Amino acid sequence: MSDTKLPTVELGKGGPLVGAQGLGCMGMSEFYGPTDTTEALATLDAALEAGVTLYDTADMYGSGANEELIGPFVRANRDQVVIATKFAIERRADEPTYRKVRNDPAYIRQAVDASLKRLGIDVIDLYYMHRRDPGVPLAESIGAMAELVQAGKVRHLGLSEVTGTELREAHAVHPIAAVQSEWSLFTRDVEQIVVPTAAELGVALVPYSPLGRGFLTGSFAQASELTEGDFRHSQPRFTGDNAAANAALIAPIQQIAAERGVTAAQVALAWVQQQAQVHNLTVVPIPGTRKRTRLAENVAGAVLKLTDAELAKLEPIAGEVTGDRYADMNSTFTGRE
Ligand SMILES: NC(=O)c1ccc[n+]([C@@H]2O[C@H](COP(=O)([O-])OP(=O)(O)OC[C@H]3O[C@@H](n4cnc5c(N)ncnc54)[C@H](OP(=O)(O)O)[C@@H]3O)[C@@H](O)[C@H]2O)c1
Repeated sequence: MSDTKLPTVELGKGGPLVGAQGLGCMGMSEFYGPTDTTEALATLDAALEAGVTLYDTADMYGSGANEELIGPFVRANRDQVVIATKFAIERRADEPTYRKVRNDPAYIRQAVDASLKRLGIDVIDLYYMHRRDPGVPLAESIGAMAELVQAGKVRHLGLSEVTGTELREAHAVHPIAAVQSEWSLFTRDVEQIVVPTAAELGVALVPYSPLGRGFLTGSFAQASELTEGDFRHSQPRFTGDNAAANAALIAPIQQIAAERGVTAAQVALAWVQQQAQVHNLTVVPIPGTRKRTRLAENVAGAVLKLTDAELAKLEPIAGEVTGDRYADMNSTFTGRE
């Protein structure tokens, strides 16, 4: 159980009130090695106890299994939980590697109903477009998402992996509460255009993979140390020469952690949390874990304050990272900006 109580922030202008750190639920069903349902469910309860109220899932995590896993928890705590899910990455039961980005209104309408059914609820608090299909006019997709708000199926809208231009265009059609993008000591390209645009529009930033998919914690130095089938085998920065070079970059994180008597994960999470003051916007990171012990550790990282000298020591890291964050960068905002 965590001794830390998280402060509460508004997730974007007019958005829901949430604990300042959320919980990424993806790994509880897929991508990062073996899963343990009992421990995952206990972790959800421990998170709520610690003041975590934003829970992040997507229809594609485990092809719907992640929404089904957390559904009973969401229903049991409906008045406290802010549930965020996402649509846009179509999968096929008979073809595990199949992925297709879909933003067309007909797809959105059936995706939301499927997510509501799997979660077992009648309204989703925050509904994200997970990936952008540039083949569909953005106003058409946001228009369809806005209709879901009017129909009472969704409370707030969000976008993931969008450019600053796309965010501005979408926000003109319907208010966007939050943008979810990868943001960590290893991945800072979002700071160039997306973050200042979000700050100007009053949109919150929800950094995903704030622990660099675990790499910043020092828990693995090469994808080859991970179990077979782990998604991180496909990520260029965790393999071969890139991984060897990148592993050396976490030394300042570990050094600060040792000096402060905290963990590297807590330093990484404190850094991303403090970007709220640096960029003058609301930041609610969603570190992912399947385990109660790490939940408590990570929540404590949200209230750790790094000094200016420590922040300066961490500043050069991202600029020295080698290797892309995905094997195919086409569907990321970086690939379109
Ligand atoms: N919008 C998008 O495109 C997108 C993409 C990726 C992820 N996401 C969302 O963002 C959430 C978080 O991102 P993420 O899970 O990819 O990466 P992350 O939060 O950076 O790292 C998660 C990894 O770190 C490990 N970990 C967590 N806390 C730790 C600690 N204190 N010490 C050591 N290891 C620790 C976890 O393992 P254990 O489970 O063993 O603790 C897991 O392997 C996801 O769950 C998902 O909801 C969104």
